[in-house]
Amino acid sequence: MEIHLLSKLFVLVMVCVSEVWTQPPPRNFPSDMLRSRCQRSFLQVNVASALVLHRDVQFSAVDQYGRAFLIDNQLALRCGYSLTYDGWRNIDFRASLLSCYTQIKNDSYFTVVLKIDITNRQNAMTQTHMRTIDCPYEWQPREIICETNYMEVSVRRKIPMIAESAFQDEPEDWSSAFPEAVSGLMSIWQVVFHLASTRKAMLVKDAQDIGYGINTTESRIILRSPYNANEAQLQRVSDVGFSTVRATVFYKQRWVILLVDTAVACPVDDVTYANRNILWTVPKNIPPLLVGASAIKNSRGEFGIDLTSLTDGDLLNRNILLVDNSLATSVTIPYGAVGGYYKSHTSHGEHGITYNIKIFLENQWEDNRWGVTKYTIIKDITTPFDQRPPIITNDTIPFTKIFNVTIGTFLPDVELVNLTIGPVTVTVPEGIALGYTITPLTHPNGSKTFILKVPFSDPNVKKEYIPDYTRVYTLNVTFGFHIFPTMETFEGKTTIIVSLTDAVPPNASGDCKERLTLRITRGNVDMLWVPYIKDVLIDAASAQLRGFDYTTNKTHFAVSVPRSSDLISYDEVSTLGLKISLPLTLRDATTGHSMYEFNIQCTYPAKELISCSQNGTMAVIVMKLVTVPDMDLSRLHLRARDCTPAVYSDTNAKFIFNVNTCETTRRFTGNTMIYENDVLYYMPGSTLPAYQLKISCTYTVNNTVNVWYSSNDNPKPGVQITSASLVFVLRLSKGGTYSDFYGNPEYPVVQYLKDPLYFEVELMHSSDPQLELFLENCWATTSTDRGSLPRWDVVVNSCEFLETHNTVFHPVNVDSRVTFSMHLKRFEVKMFTFMQADNAYLGEIYFHCAVIICNADARLADPLCSRSCIPEKQRVGRSLDSNSHSRNYVSSGAVRLALEPGSDTMQAWSHLATQ
Ligand SMILES: *[C@@H]1O[C@H](CO)[C@@H](O)[C@H](O)[C@H]1NC(C)=O
Ligand SMILES: *[C@@H]1O[C@H](CO)[C@@H](O)[C@H](O)[C@H]1NC(C)=O
Ligand SMILES: *[C@@H]1O[C@H](CO)[C@@H](O)[C@H](O)[C@H]1NC(C)=O
Ligand SMILES: *[C@@H]1O[C@H](CO)[C@@H](O)[C@H](O)[C@H]1NC(C)=O
Ligand SMILES: *[C@@H]1O[C@H](CO)[C@@H](O)[C@H](O)[C@H]1NC(C)=O
Ligand SMILES: *[C@@H]1O[C@H](CO)[C@@H](O)[C@H](O)[C@H]1NC(C)=O
Ligand SMILES: *[C@@H]1O[C@H](CO)[C@@H](O)[C@H](O)[C@H]1NC(C)=O
Repeated sequence: MEIHLLSKLFVLVMVCVSEVWTQPPPRNFPSDMLRSRCQRSFLQVNVASALVLHRDVQFSAVDQYGRAFLIDNQLALRCGYSLTYDGWRNIDFRASLLSCYTQIKNDSYFTVVLKIDITNRQNAMTQTHMRTIDCPYEWQPREIICETNYMEVSVRRKIPMIAESAFQDEPEDWSSAFPEAVSGLMSIWQVVFHLASTRKAMLVKDAQDIGYGINTTESRIILRSPYNANEAQLQRVSDVGFSTVRATVFYKQRWVILLVDTAVACPVDDVTYANRNILWTVPKNIPPLLVGASAIKNSRGEFGIDLTSLTDGDLLNRNILLVDNSLATSVTIPYGAVGGYYKSHTSHGEHGITYNIKIFLENQWEDNRWGVTKYTIIKDITTPFDQRPPIITNDTIPFTKIFNVTIGTFLPDVELVNLTIGPVTVTVPEGIALGYTITPLTHPNGSKTFILKVPFSDPNVKKEYIPDYTRVYTLNVTFGFHIFPTMETFEGKTTIIVSLTDAVPPNASGDCKERLTLRITRGNVDMLWVPYIKDVLIDAASAQLRGFDYTTNKTHFAVSVPRSSDLISYDEVSTLGLKISLPLTLRDATTGHSMYEFNIQCTYPAKELISCSQNGTMAVIVMKLVTVPDMDLSRLHLRARDCTPAVYSDTNAKFIFNVNTCETTRRFTGNTMIYENDVLYYMPGSTLPAYQLKISCTYTVNNTVNVWYSSNDNPKPGVQITSASLVFVLRLSKGGTYSDFYGNPEYPVVQYLKDPLYFEVELMHSSDPQLELFLENCWATTSTDRGSLPRWDVVVNSCEFLETHNTVFHPVNVDSRVTFSMHLKRFEVKMFTFMQADNAYLGEIYFHCAVIICNADARLADPLCSRSCIPEKQRVGRSLDSNSHSRNYVSSGAVRLALEPGSDTMQAWSHLATQ
């Protein structure tokens, strides 16, 4: 009985990453959802996202008569408003104190009235917040503002007055504009834009229609322009591009026509990024702003965040480097500096972050034309997208049998939405209900990570078995995230594989009786495996249908199948018996892959089924097998298709053939020679046999057969069932013609010393021409015991014994007596070979040979057979250990060595007398 195991191997895949980063918390002001304050020359309103999230928000400016004007993009540009959302949907709203609907007192006290409508998208309910904010402000003669969406300049109207110098500066302005100016009635008549090489004049009303904001206050004149206005020009100043608008406004006051030169220039490509720093450089001495000016005197500017100035100490704390010299102000802000914020985003489905900071720079200078100019730039900077794939850490401790996975680090705006484990996607609450532990972990710096724990036992954890004791648990998890509030989505995926050597494979025992029985003890890896025999699922139903026994419980199952069942496989018919087996395969229930195989093989006596004759005739009876439906026994054949049954009936077929035919192969193992063939059955049109039965005859070669030739008691070639033997004889010929031999009664044969002896060794009864007999060694002894001493060598290592040259091989030719010359070997021995103490030995002597059988087709493959001197004389071979080889011994009957009558070799006679 044999039990075979078979199993599978798996390939492991792993993922590994590491990096850590942090970020400051987002802005929020929970106690003050709507906050307004005066900041420099602005009114600033912040609305917390909590108030406006998923709602529509509208800002309107309210004028002195209570009329509300909806602030849309166009109005914002023309009238001096800006409205932006930050990453959390907090609103930053700013109004210039010189915005269109501001109520102004004495040009130093500014009242902005705002109406904020917040509409719930679901129920369309609108909540209205009114805000009236008063801001005092002291203006410099000229103030220039570079807002994020517009440019604004306001100039004290008295300066410059109409003066000779103005005409001298730009005489063409006046001469080209004046004819129109006289016909106008408005207080502001006309505006002339200075382009690169020409000028363009238009009515103020027309300019306002195309997006410019032009107005006056008691003492100031205001020009507001979008960055990309038609009349704006791009000019480079110290490598920084500026959008520049220069205009002369004609203004009639009483009887005087005033002509006010206004110019605004704001940088557009002044921010660069390097080494996780924001670099901002603003040149001083911006030529378009200094037309006609000289004696320029810079005073130190101010820099800050969110319109609030930072002191040198603040800068140092934030690692912000500010370099201010007469040519430029440059600021280096490290990413993450306090006052800005990080925000998560996705790009092409990948997670990443940006850093945002709102900064301003306020420079002030004085010159002889404009007096003091205050120049303010506001920047809302968002750094380029910085890809940050989620970092997944495997903290699994195998023996806990719980996967422990950490994914992070994320900003607080990242939310874990769902998990895909194996084939199943669940939301976080569903996952918790399934027994997963999902823990968001918030770190002191505001960042967060998520820890997921999944027990190995979870059905969505893949479990594989590697023989013999390893179990492999694979967690294939995809984390689904979204980013608040933009609802951008991204994923993090990992596969974690843990191997535990705790597998207990199933175990089997069995027995061979009237039924073949397999008893399986389950292990801990076969819960999802199901037993099959030959594609038949083994369960109670199939057991009943097919008449075998099947018992099962939690720890064991057993199958017991009658020998006649078609679940039985017939493997081999040989002289040793009939081998049948019950192959049981445990298959994975889901994939159907074979995971483990058991096979019990039983051998039953089969005397009636096979016979092996010494002459090489095999006779085999093949029973009809139920395995193959509608088997037509006449279509059975051996390896050679023309070797069909000699006789057949409905139930069995009989093959009779010689081992020399039908593609029968022979093979030597140890002391046996085995002839093998197969009985095959092919379904029509199929190239694979539907049925195959191995048949073999085994001949043992190690029986010592002492025979000498006699026509009477020549051993009868008979059928030997359990195992057949090869039979050898050693004969002594009467003379060198090898036609007449001594018979049994003639022994001991008396031999005179001067005459040679002629020997012949034959493999009897075989009709297999591919067998060749060789003499390995031959020798003579003085007793029947071939191991006794003294001993004289005759043939050594298949060669004539070279020391005496007294052995001669003779060829064997086919004649009336000899059918297969290869089955015989002949040699001649001269009698004076046998010397003892310098005298020829006289007395009884016995000859022995060790013979070997070789496969004549493949003689060179066998060192023992290929070294032979036969038939080529004198080929010397090495002595090899040939224990494993089929070897047989033959011995002769007694030969009495005698002196010829009348010989005077007395010594020999006297020796004989002492025997
Ligand atoms: C100009 O300012 C006045 C006074 O503030 C205001 O009433 C008027 O609407 C403004 N004109 C425009 C076009 O903004
Ligand atoms: C899982 O990993 C986390 C983070 O390393 C650790 O704090 C926790 O103790 C681990 N839990 C288990 C069950 O191993
Ligand atoms: C993990 O799951 C994904 C999606 O279900 C699949 O494409 C991938 O092949 C799986 N990987 C492994 C190692 O099972
Ligand atoms: C899981 O969440 C991700 C990210 O929010 C989303 O893209 C995906 O559609 C979700 N999957 C399922 C099956 O709901
Ligand atoms: C996860 O960690 C466990 C325990 O350290 C280890 O056995 C396993 O190989 C790891 N898996 C991967 C994919 O790194
Ligand atoms: C299961 O069957 C086996 C063999 O048939 C038996 O030894 C064992 O006691 C049974 N176990 C239970 C729990 O019934
Ligand atoms: C070989 O022996 C068998 C049985 O002893 C006999 O039936 C058969 O005729 C013999 N065949 C030859 C070729 O001698």
